[in-house]
Amino acid sequence: MRTPKIESAIAELETYAKHGESYTNMDGRYGWRNPIRADTGGLLQALTVATAPKRALEIGTAHGLSALYLVSGMPEGAHLDTIEFHEEVGRNAQALMDDCAVPVKVFIGEARAVIDGLTEPYDLVFFDAQKNQYHPQLMDLLERKLIGPGSVLLADNVIDREEECRAFLDWFVANGVEHHIVPTECGLLVARL
Ligand SMILES: C[S@@+](CC[C@H](N)C(=O)[O-])C[C@H]1O[C@@H](n2cnc3c(N)ncnc32)[C@H](O)[C@@H]1O
Repeated sequence: MRTPKIESAIAELETYAKHGESYTNMDGRYGWRNPIRADTGGLLQALTVATAPKRALEIGTAHGLSALYLVSGMPEGAHLDTIEFHEEVGRNAQALMDDCAVPVKVFIGEARAVIDGLTEPYDLVFFDAQKNQYHPQLMDLLERKLIGPGSVLLADNVIDREEECRAFLDWFVANGVEHHIVPTECGLLVARL
């Protein structure tokens, strides 16, 4: 459910540039802190309404736009964890979540290192950090049994950054996991294990 506070936070974050804010990624190159596009937020919220995850994980918080859409669709009593490795960006996102009174915890750290310390499984995971890290992050989540049969997996940029997502996308095919690619501006993968 979106309170007026969440509504106004989303409206403001939707005005942020969709391209252009850079950071140094895991390969020492430029990565882009691009928020989800205008066609994706409502879809993320609809997917959490439809799948009703009690525990969800997002990888790649940035300023918190997608986190607000995801948590807005989650049922009463649910919780969203989200991971961001840029300290100031993560701290600001946590302050926004607290201000909006949503049940979201921002973990500040490199995603795979954070995943290594997590213990409770998730019903839904949204991948939206460095694209060539989706596959190793997925392997870590599986290995640590943080996801399993029934878990819903979502991933942004599987069309516009398809090559960087190649190993991740190939995993679904190789393992016969049903998955769908919704033709949003960037391409959203929707799958259930
Ligand atoms: C595309 S942006 C996320 C946008 C956000 N999901 C939204 O729509 O509002 C990717 C974010 O992931 C963070 N990031 C990139 N690689 C990371 C990693 N290995 N571990 C943790 N955070 C990472 C970046 O700092 C950046 O803020």
